[in-house]
Amino acid sequence: MKSNPGGQIPVDEILGRDRLIADLWDTLHRLSVVMTAERRIGKTSVLRKMQAEPPAGWFVVSMDLERVHTANEFATAVFDKVRDGLSRWKQTAHSAGKFFSDIGGTEIAGVLKLPEGKDRHWKTLLTRTVDDLVTHQRPNRLVFFWDEMPFMLQSIRHREGEETAMEILDVLRSVRQEAADFRMLVTGSIGLHHVLSRLKAADYTNAPFNDMYDVEVTPLEPPDAEELARRLIAGEGLPSSDRGAAARAIAEQGDCFPYYIHSIVKRLKSSGLAAEPGVVAATVTSQLNSPDDPWELLHYRERIPSYYPGDDSFVLAILDHLATSDRPEPVARLFAALQTQHEAFSDRERLLSLLKLLHRDHYLARTPEGHYTFRFPLIRRWWALDRGL
Ligand SMILES: Nc1ncnc2c1ncn2[C@@H]1O[C@H](COP(=O)(O)OP(=O)(O)O)[C@@H](O)[C@H]1O
Ligand SMILES: [Mg+2]
Repeated sequence: MKSNPGGQIPVDEILGRDRLIADLWDTLHRLSVVMTAERRIGKTSVLRKMQAEPPAGWFVVSMDLERVHTANEFATAVFDKVRDGLSRWKQTAHSAGKFFSDIGGTEIAGVLKLPEGKDRHWKTLLTRTVDDLVTHQRPNRLVFFWDEMPFMLQSIRHREGEETAMEILDVLRSVRQEAADFRMLVTGSIGLHHVLSRLKAADYTNAPFNDMYDVEVTPLEPPDAEELARRLIAGEGLPSSDRGAAARAIAEQGDCFPYYIHSIVKRLKSSGLAAEPGVVAATVTSQLNSPDDPWELLHYRERIPSYYPGDDSFVLAILDHLATSDRPEPVARLFAALQTQHEAFSDRERLLSLLKLLHRDHYLARTPEGHYTFRFPLIRRWWALDRGL
């Protein structure tokens, strides 16, 4: 198996995830699902593995929404995908296709376009497409995999305004309610709560996701992470005096993120280094320290002003404190530490809500006692290095 950080790896090289996948299918029997986790933890890979082997009775339509920027694009992309995927399905025989041609939709060089204008044709096209497919697939159940939907919602909000983003959410919710055999599995590297909080600021009061189940994608289970490292060491032919120990070191130093495991092996290979625990540790340190930021960790810091508008200096102070403390911190100690750094910080309630948000955004984890610590040791290490702590 060759190292390929960030690339489309063959499905049979997507290791582990079996329990998560079984749980997702089981949940989808009853509910639609939102799956949130950091970039590169392996969400898309989970979808690809699910799509490759759906259980009997499911029909999957999988789409990457990261580059969809308008409501029209969304509706036509869904329509196009559905239409293309079903060769048996005569274009004139279904109501979405008929609607598309009736309103003057065009197809030029394979690109579908709705007519310009104020009419919200995308709504009808979207609902009819889903209805058609649900009917056509019966008795199979239909599930849409919508990868990175929050990015799409953010783009739509920027380009077309809050109202259109809200309408999309409302249409999807009503489709979920009306079509009993329809499910969606949505992934997001940014939490939907960020999109929603912007919409709420614009007076959106609906709860568009409260009928969906939240699933978190964690890093790989340690045995799967080690297995991945072992196969990559073998596949790249890295010299090693003890492959087991090297694989363990790679899994551990990479926090069991499959992307970092691929990256470490790639780095060892291209530097002509052996797979030995000490070499692995030195390689990780050099990656974390590199001014080129090869693992793109800077986004953990750069997104803070947009994630926590107005609170960024407090968030930095919280993370700085936790990056240097040698144990999980109780709220009281965090509060005291912040007060000594920021005279202005006297609002305990605000600290509590920031901590909750940081927890939700996977910066922090909580011990059973309620103490806070960095969620990922690797990110904590990088944070301390990057901030010169
Ligand atoms: N289960 C897995 N087994 C092996 N490699 C994986 C696995 N999941 C992810 N990867 C590696 O990590 C990279 C990023 O994974 P991806 O699924 O694209 O993450 P996300 O969609 O969460 O950003 C992939 O290109 C691949 O190299
Ligand atoms: Mg992805």
